[in-house]
Amino acid sequence: MSKQSKTWQLIFLGLLAIYEIIGNCQTTACWPRFKSKSRDGPLFWNIFGKTNKGGDHSNDIDENSQEIDENSAKYEKLKWTTVIESDWIKNHNFSLELHYVVTEDGYNLTLHRLPRPGSSPVLLLHGLLTSSLAWVIMGPAKSLAFQLFNSQHDVWLANLRGSAYGRNHSRFTTNDAEFWSFSFHEWGRYDLPAIVDHIRSETSFHQVWLIAHSQAFNAILVLCSLLPQYNERLQFVQALAPIASLRNQVKFTNDDVRKVFRFVKKKTNDNDFELLPQSFMRDKCLRSSQRSECEKWFMLLAGNGQYDRAMNTLLYGQLLQGGSVKEATHLRQLWKSGDFIWFDYDPQVNLVNYRSVAPPFYNLSLVQVPMILYFGNTDAIATPEGVHSIYAHMLDNVKGVYRIDAEKFNHYDFYISSEIKKLVNDRLLDHKEKLQKNQLKYVVE
Ligand SMILES: *[C@@H]1O[C@H](CO)[C@@H](O)[C@H](O)[C@H]1NC(C)=O
Ligand SMILES: *[C@@H]1O[C@H](CO)[C@@H](O)[C@H](O)[C@H]1NC(C)=O
Ligand SMILES: *[C@@H]1O[C@H](CO)[C@@H](O)[C@H](O)[C@H]1NC(C)=O
Ligand SMILES: *[C@@H]1O[C@H](CO)[C@@H](O)[C@H](O)[C@H]1NC(C)=O
Repeated sequence: MSKQSKTWQLIFLGLLAIYEIIGNCQTTACWPRFKSKSRDGPLFWNIFGKTNKGGDHSNDIDENSQEIDENSAKYEKLKWTTVIESDWIKNHNFSLELHYVVTEDGYNLTLHRLPRPGSSPVLLLHGLLTSSLAWVIMGPAKSLAFQLFNSQHDVWLANLRGSAYGRNHSRFTTNDAEFWSFSFHEWGRYDLPAIVDHIRSETSFHQVWLIAHSQAFNAILVLCSLLPQYNERLQFVQALAPIASLRNQVKFTNDDVRKVFRFVKKKTNDNDFELLPQSFMRDKCLRSSQRSECEKWFMLLAGNGQYDRAMNTLLYGQLLQGGSVKEATHLRQLWKSGDFIWFDYDPQVNLVNYRSVAPPFYNLSLVQVPMILYFGNTDAIATPEGVHSIYAHMLDNVKGVYRIDAEKFNHYDFYISSEIKKLVNDRLLDHKEKLQKNQLKYVVE
């Protein structure tokens, strides 16, 4: 294999690697107990409290994070749901609404809303392994959801199937293989139409503005090609680190990919369909003795991004919440084939499902909603080359391609960069305004 063919998506593979490597550690020496120590409140709370004042919080977080007792109620309070219960959002003078959207195929998804009735709606779509939490995790001073709300938008945060708030189903539980049988295809075919319709019925607006990270962009392509009427219901799309084009672009070696997918295969044979569950990340990465290993892998595979190392606790403990093995497999198929294709089952199943031995292509000429793409210089999944090729070879409705103005900027920096406001959020708003006024120049960076 040539160096050129170094490939592959970063974070989730990186995480798979973490899973594989750390997961192999079975001896008690690898599983130290950490002691309980009383703390002032949930970790989340502390971080936001401090972030809000603009202080440097690196030290206290690293210390605290090593001393969380997994059996304590406080450990549980790391969850976003508990943050809502603890009135965290309210104490920052934001209100929050919970909505439930049931998809055609039975998933009951939670939509979080920072309501501003009468204002134009914006819908934020998280990517692989995360949830709505991604858009608030840096707190009111930095995270995009708050900034959009403050700039007079009605803010909706999706939770797609498989995310921590998208795990209720009418017939299946998370122990059922059927529950985990989805990829970005089902996000686009079932979740997005249900969510977009819900927003439309709750507001007086015919269209919604979309901001999507990573794999959520793929879901939008699925939506607009399979149900083209949704092109009209989306005002436009700003895609952060989109990963629709992966061939020979991502910065992983074929060896990495093979190794990781041997592991995925093993998991599937063991009937274990959830990838990197949150409890796993917490167990492995929040413990002091294992943190450095986690960090090493994370930094290696995610590169050296913008984020404050103090954010690691949030990243492992909360932001990364698990996904399905099938999601990773579908992305791998994009990578292997170089095309934007439906899920490739084996030939017999393809024949039944698609009436052809090979999986069909999504018809991307049906995707008409205007789009702006953004990428980070050092993103190993959504590489500059990969994002450029989306605009050059896949779609003709791209209105601009923008490079985040930082020497190092990685896949998850779109959520957790310490300079996210200046580098990402302000720009998104500026471009949106210009696009609406028809003043956005066509720029490819
Ligand atoms: C929220 O509003 C109250 C009342 O106006 C004010 O006293 C408080 O400081 C505000 N809290 C924050 C975090 O801005
Ligand atoms: C969806 O979940 C919410 C919260 O658990 C619940 O209140 C609601 O009844 C559920 N909807 C359906 C149709 O199951
Ligand atoms: C889904 O939500 C409904 C309504 O709250 C509940 O009755 C049901 O047990 C939940 N299903 C699962 C799998 O959690
Ligand atoms: C894709 O859609 C376009 C526009 O409707 C249509 O002209 C074309 O035939 C379609 N291609 C395929 C392969 O179905």
